[in-house]
Amino acid sequence: MHYQAIRGTRDIFPPLSEAFSAFEETAREKAALWGFEELRTPTFEEAGLFQRSIGETTDIVEKEMYVFQDRGGRNLALRPEGTASVARAYIEHEIAKKEKKSRFFYIGSMFRAERPQAGRYREFGQIGFEILGESEPSAEFDLITLADAIFKDFGVKKARLHLNSIGCLACRGDYRQELKNSLEPKAATLCEDCQKRLQRNPFRVLDCKKCSPLLAGLIPPFAKCGACAQHEKILFNLLETLPLPYNHDPKIVRGFDYYTRTVWEFLHPDLGAQSAICSGGRYDNLIKDLGGPEVPAVGLAFGIDRSLEANAAEGKEKPAVTKNKNGVFLCLASNSDAVVSYALKTATLLRENGLGVSYSLFKDSFKSQLRQAGKSRFAYCLILGEDEQKAQSYKLKNLTDGQETDLPWQKLVEKLKC
Ligand code: HAM
Repeated sequence: MHYQAIRGTRDIFPPLSEAFSAFEETAREKAALWGFEELRTPTFEEAGLFQRSIGETTDIVEKEMYVFQDRGGRNLALRPEGTASVARAYIEHEIAKKEKKSRFFYIGSMFRAERPQAGRYREFGQIGFEILGESEPSAEFDLITLADAIFKDFGVKKARLHLNSIGCLACRGDYRQELKNSLEPKAATLCEDCQKRLQRNPFRVLDCKKCSPLLAGLIPPFAKCGACAQHEKILFNLLETLPLPYNHDPKIVRGFDYYTRTVWEFLHPDLGAQSAICSGGRYDNLIKDLGGPEVPAVGLAFGIDRSLEANAAEGKEKPAVTKNKNGVFLCLASNSDAVVSYALKTATLLRENGLGVSYSLFKDSFKSQLRQAGKSRFAYCLILGEDEQKAQSYKLKNLTDGQETDLPWQKLVEKLKC
């Protein structure tokens, strides 16, 4: 019986797993600079949390959630995204009573039963950032500059910001009807999903990839209420101060009901259909809708898989695997008990000094050990045989130039630490 990973999930080996870690590391560094703290929430929640937050008529809730009953008959779901969980945790732990403004980030897998294709997985990584308690457009600005800094640091140069305002509940109501009236004459030409969307939530028609070409000239201008128009204007003015080009794109409406006012996506031109690599928006009503206090909020999430694909698509040379100079691969010239025990003791001491050690020890021939050393992540191999054990010394071989040096313990540690 051969088991295989479930379609839409994948095993991530090095070097891709290392690229994942490097991206996460970049995001963590920036999170600290922007004042975000990590929040870890459960991977599954009550299904109702997502139905209520994301919206009953959204694709995610209607078609893509992994819903199951646990042994106690509870209706649960693997999280399809992180914002709803952050909101739930924020309310449950009464964070608003402890601090006026909060900044959380999270890193983890999300699950959606979408049709797998390039860039679209059923389990995928997200790094999300949420600002709670901030109604000013400067919060959007802060998140957008953060995303830009993460992309720049990681070497993704072509991500392009597409930004829109979908207004608040008040101004969106009238526009929804206007939009519906405008699209109705074309209803028969829309895809099956959009025909339903047109009745239940005409905004959704706007970001349908299939129907998008049919909509030219049909999207009426959105006259937002004064407060929403002002919010949008201030944000655009702030963005003008950055060397970051952006498109005001009325087709960006996002597939979640919780959004209010600003929504955006960073799209990457080289990724084909699944080009959104980082998306977000404001959700001023969500905390209240979930039974919490009235707390405005805004956030975004990077798709890790797609961000790395964007990096690769830009033709960035795969980072040359830089060998770790702070560690050794142990090669034993003898497998006598005394030498093996000397090697194991050496490994322990090196690790206690913060230095890396890898080895095959015991039965492999010296030649095979040297071959493994060459393939290892370390820049050196440490040769230990009868002579070294007796003299309590260490032969360090540089795997790049082949140079060998005999060193006493202290010198060995100094050399590997620099
Ligand atoms: P989202 O647009 O659904 O937003 O997901 C954010 C990012 O996750 C997308 O831009 C994309 O890169 C990645 N992503 C989404 N679905 C998949 C998939 N099936 N396979 C691979 N990558 C995928 C949210 O999840 C919101 N919670 C973002 C947010 C945070 N809004 C406010 N705060």
